[in-house]
Amino acid sequence: AAPQVGVTIEAAKPGPVISKYVYGQFAEHLGTGIYGGLWVGPDSRIPNTRGWRNDVVGALKELRVPVVRWPGGCFADQYHWRDGIGPRSERPVRINTNWGGVDEDNAVGTHEFFELVEQLGTDAYVNGNLGSGSVQEMAEWVEYLTAGGKSSLAALRARNGHPAPFKVAFFGVGNEGWGCGGNMRVEQYADAYNRYVSFLHPAPGSNTQFIAAGGHDEDTSWTDYLSSKIQVGRFDGISFHYYTSPGADKNGKFGATGFDESRWIWTLSQTRRMEGFIANNVAKMDQHDKKKKLAFVVDEWGTWYEPEAGSPPGFLVQQNSLRDAMVAALNFNIFHAHADRVRMTSIAQMVNVLQAMIRTDGDKMVLTPTYHAFKMYVPFQDATSVPVKLENNPQYTLGEVSIPAVSASAARGKDGKLYLALVNTNPREGAEIAVAVDGAKASSASGTVLTAAAMDAHNTYAAPGVVAPAPYEAAASGGKLVLKLPAKSIVVVAVRE
Ligand code: AHR
Repeated sequence: AAPQVGVTIEAAKPGPVISKYVYGQFAEHLGTGIYGGLWVGPDSRIPNTRGWRNDVVGALKELRVPVVRWPGGCFADQYHWRDGIGPRSERPVRINTNWGGVDEDNAVGTHEFFELVEQLGTDAYVNGNLGSGSVQEMAEWVEYLTAGGKSSLAALRARNGHPAPFKVAFFGVGNEGWGCGGNMRVEQYADAYNRYVSFLHPAPGSNTQFIAAGGHDEDTSWTDYLSSKIQVGRFDGISFHYYTSPGADKNGKFGATGFDESRWIWTLSQTRRMEGFIANNVAKMDQHDKKKKLAFVVDEWGTWYEPEAGSPPGFLVQQNSLRDAMVAALNFNIFHAHADRVRMTSIAQMVNVLQAMIRTDGDKMVLTPTYHAFKMYVPFQDATSVPVKLENNPQYTLGEVSIPAVSASAARGKDGKLYLALVNTNPREGAEIAVAVDGAKASSASGTVLTAAAMDAHNTYAAPGVVAPAPYEAAASGGKLVLKLPAKSIVVVAVRE
């Protein structure tokens, strides 16, 4: 029999709060991420509330989405906010040059986005245009969004249907400055950030947090430079992007499904690199920001595969399998371990794009395995992290790739319960976990398990329940709480002390 893995929950040593914003989402004007997937317009035969799909919004509400980043991504740096206000029939049509060269009719603009924010009961993370916009344009958007009083922009907002200021919790100043956001050197971007932000003045009481567009992958130079050189007061976080690649299979494919075990373990090993990336960037921040004022904002993460056959170019459509749910859970556990700095993330993306929660086709909708992982982890939103010690954790190895078989994370939820999340990465062998809680006796645990027969198991419109959480119970045996994890599974339980 496989040896027992020991998990000790150090319940008496609470760590930082895991911000609910760690469970954020990203909705870009890209493919059917917004148009079709979320927005169908008020005249659609698909049931909607003021244009937003009832089925999709209803499902997303179950995730308690804490924040939505919009309108991009790369799109943010080509977006001019005045295109998206006023009567929809009079709005200009632009070309979405980043994503497929399709027509962007600006049906979704500021007011529509904030309507979605309201329907979801979430917070807004608006990403401004530094790349192709101007300081004045961005400053006026901030005023339009937040000003009250006699400001003409506030009056214009009122005429467009929203007398009260919008609540802008977060404002991003450009996106991927090193790439689609303007192909800048970090020095140029830092200068631009300082200049732009000097003119951004949210109305008093707005409490808007400003996020600088940072680096990606193993490159820490953007975090290092920005955290040392940005001097302006409005600077609350630095963003970071890392996408998980499955690596090419023997046919040179990067498929979302139909992969073998080598692509399973490679994908999981690649996603685990997030741990080192965060640690290295945080080490740079710690040198310049000893009081940990700045947040490290992983505002794009998730899997990026070859697009689905037949999908329109630039729409980034991909299937979502059990492997994606594992990727999500491994990243959640990593984010929890860095909760003091990682105070917001947004997975790319919410609907129909890359590692989505939900897929749609016309009036059909299906929840992905990633959706279920997000739902299982809801109790970790704003929970207090609790350290876990892992002993006898075997390596899961295939060929030259080897990763720890089990990943664990614990937290004290806002409801006072102790939550434990476990991931067994091994697709062939189950794992037995003996759980001890320091200072208490764990008597039983109950929650949910997510697994499936195949590594690439996924949900379709015809078979939406192939990958779905099932109830999970564990009891004490021989004085220990024992959790049996199926192969390739995620388990989230509340532990009874
Ligand atoms: O999420 C898709 C794209 O990936 C975003 O628009 C961009 O920021 C990143 O390169």
